[in-house]
Amino acid sequence: MEYFAYRGGFLHAENVSVIDISEQVGTPFYVYSASAIEKSYRDLERELKAVNHSISYAVKANSNIAILRLIAQLGSGMDVVSSGEYRRAIAAGVPGEKIVFSGVGKTKEEMLIAATGGVKQFNVESEEELFALNAVARSIEKVVPVSIRVNPNVNADTHEKISTGKSDNKFGIPITEVAQLVSKVKKCSNIKFVGLAVHIGSQLTDLSPYKKSFEKIADLVKSLQSAGHKVTRLDLGGGLGIAYKKGAKVINISKYVQLVTNIFSDLRCELEFEPGRLIVGNAGILVCSAIYTKSYQSRNFLIVDGAMIDLLRPAIYDAYHDIITIRESNCSNDRMLYDVVGPICETGDTFTRNRSIPKMRAGDLIAFASSGAYGATMASEYNTRPLVPEILVKNGNFDVIRARPSIESIIKKDIVPDWLR
Ligand code: LLP
Repeated sequence: MEYFAYRGGFLHAENVSVIDISEQVGTPFYVYSASAIEKSYRDLERELKAVNHSISYAVKANSNIAILRLIAQLGSGMDVVSSGEYRRAIAAGVPGEKIVFSGVGKTKEEMLIAATGGVKQFNVESEEELFALNAVARSIEKVVPVSIRVNPNVNADTHEKISTGKSDNKFGIPITEVAQLVSKVKKCSNIKFVGLAVHIGSQLTDLSPYKKSFEKIADLVKSLQSAGHKVTRLDLGGGLGIAYKKGAKVINISKYVQLVTNIFSDLRCELEFEPGRLIVGNAGILVCSAIYTKSYQSRNFLIVDGAMIDLLRPAIYDAYHDIITIRESNCSNDRMLYDVVGPICETGDTFTRNRSIPKMRAGDLIAFASSGAYGATMASEYNTRPLVPEILVKNGNFDVIRARPSIESIIKKDIVPDWLR
């Protein structure tokens, strides 16, 4: 979170005071640092310099097209999982040839959009999907590049809801079945087999699950190559975790690259990476205002205007986000244990319980750190609360990159049928 720091006693995003933003746009809002995104992307690029590689940023982590454009301008391609994300990437100026289409349930309509607009490759996850894609490609007389997503049956050692590489997860094709499917791909006249893809989970903080799955993939590639199949690309997915707590253990990127190089360098494939969280996670915060405080029995509640619908991670993964006060607190004694909660009518709308933070009063601002990934993209309008605005800071300026919708525009989307009028 190096681009979010106190200056003169108040939190700044780069050189912009968070209070100045709040005065103009109101709370809650997300604010992202462009420099933080650029730095994390360039740091990864630098580590990968000696590797034959490409980066396809995972759009799902943060799909605002201003963010996509920023990342695309750094040279990145995109990894998308729906035609909506595909169209966002195109709208951000990314050429189809730099877009990887992943996902376990692509519909024919979605395939058609991407096959027509151009795509680097489809990562296919079942035999039925393969045949559907072949039919779609035939209907527009195109041959589309395909990688097969492998399920290596490896425990990623992360939260079970974001673990994707075990045999009982819905993702990919069991590693033992892949060779057979590759032979079938060869019979699909409108599909060109290019390689394999693997993604075992997200927020990984240990190298060993990567090692296990990559070794399995390398063995599979060797056996496919010796059976005469040309494997030119290996999509190694994303998943590199970030430190949500200061000093938390994360994977050392140089060691990750070393591992990848050791395992794959003699296979002569282009290695594709799909980082999401690593690029944007620590580049954003969610800023909220305290609405009320109340203390009963042994609990102190801090009720803020941001909610589980704005940052879902604590509610569904029990995820930890640091809480930063916007005014720097110099007095370590003046702290309290708070349950920080939102206004939604669910007990699950709780960001944290019993967290020690500086004493707060109604109107004070606080922020949830490390919210740049899977924050705004997972938000909803539950309880008819508008999606929170997104702000992008670059040096001394900020821009609203998504405005807060009016309640009226939300209600207007509903249609009362004639018979009820
Ligand atoms: N590639 C594929 C095929 C994926 O499914 C994902 C994430 C990524 C790449 C990017 O993973 P990353 O580098 O960001 O870890 N909502 C959850 C995370 C879900 C991740 C889903 N797939 C969270 O808030 O932690």
